[in-house]
Amino acid sequence: MGADQALVQTLRDMAWLATPMALRVAATLRLADHIDDSGSTAGELAKLTDTSPPALTRLLAHLVTLEVLSRTEDTYFLTELGRQLRSDADNELLLELDIDSAVGRAELAYVELEYAVRTGHAAYPRHYGRDFWSDLADTPALRKSFDAKMTRRFQTIAPQIAQRYDWSRFATIVDVGGGQGTVLSAILRTHPTVRGQLVDLPATAAHAVEEFAAAGLSDRASVVAGSFFDPLPGGADAYLLSDILHDWDDAHAHEILSRCAEAAGPTGTILIIEAIHDHDSHTAIDLSMLVFFGGRNRTLAEFITLISAHDLHLKSVSEIADHRTLLEITPNPTGPERAPHRNPTDGD
Ligand SMILES: C[S@@+](CC[C@H](N)C(=O)[O-])C[C@H]1O[C@@H](n2cnc3c(N)ncnc32)[C@H](O)[C@@H]1O
Repeated sequence: MGADQALVQTLRDMAWLATPMALRVAATLRLADHIDDSGSTAGELAKLTDTSPPALTRLLAHLVTLEVLSRTEDTYFLTELGRQLRSDADNELLLELDIDSAVGRAELAYVELEYAVRTGHAAYPRHYGRDFWSDLADTPALRKSFDAKMTRRFQTIAPQIAQRYDWSRFATIVDVGGGQGTVLSAILRTHPTVRGQLVDLPATAAHAVEEFAAAGLSDRASVVAGSFFDPLPGGADAYLLSDILHDWDDAHAHEILSRCAEAAGPTGTILIIEAIHDHDSHTAIDLSMLVFFGGRNRTLAEFITLISAHDLHLKSVSEIADHRTLLEITPNPTGPERAPHRNPTDGD
């Protein structure tokens, strides 16, 4: 009986929304930024964050139980855990937890998870009335926070991608949905003979132009503002899809692959970089792909099925970075798709 109660409490602790929401509101209010080494009272914090003092006191009390804050009489201090929520902490937490950021806001669509699980459709449009990308297109602050989050998440991964594959095999690479250019910049910096072109939606494409200029890469990197559902620039040696297909259901993923195959022609290579489900993906991120986009992290078998519907051949599979796999795809030389060559040492 006692043991059962412990299990019940474990589940309750995991399920109650009080804790994740308390952390997200603390992040959104930038509470940690307002608490220095001498500590702050609830009244001071309420003034600085424009919140109700009694209600904020209750939030602070819960944060104390989580050991995000400590308390001495009426003064609150940051713990080591709480310091991770400061704007100057070297991490991406605020870009994820702030409920006014693109990703933090999208997480709130989890209240429609039941709908997503029943239907297989994205929860985000049901919760917000339109899809994630439409929201970003119309709200520059959301777009900016999303682009910043995408850049930050690849801070260590982009250099790994650049170093662990011989990109110098290609004279020209089109980075399809390349974001602000984090991956392409790393590739071009590491492989000086390669030229790149990035395709992304207009606001992000404009950020990419600035990033390439700041990196001194404008002579080798150009940017096209456009959609990957429209024809892509043709004739490049390689077409890169980095963390793109997991944002889309199969119908849209097929469209994107078709545009790449058309542009790549009979000699081009298509490179997919993603976390593979059941291999290097995270179940929570996979669920987020469902909730935000109706997409998913695919298994290798699902990728093979996807690719087989096109006149394409999965040539090799290799580890390219922490939690990322590279699928190298070429025009199909012989007919129906067969199992790829897996080279685990490619990534080393
Ligand atoms: C998950 S991010 C990946 C960005 C980049 N490839 C990387 O790995 O860092 C998805 C990207 O797809 C872009 N995107 C979404 N819909 C698009 C469309 N219809 N055409 C072009 N890009 C699109 C987004 O703007 C975003 O930059």
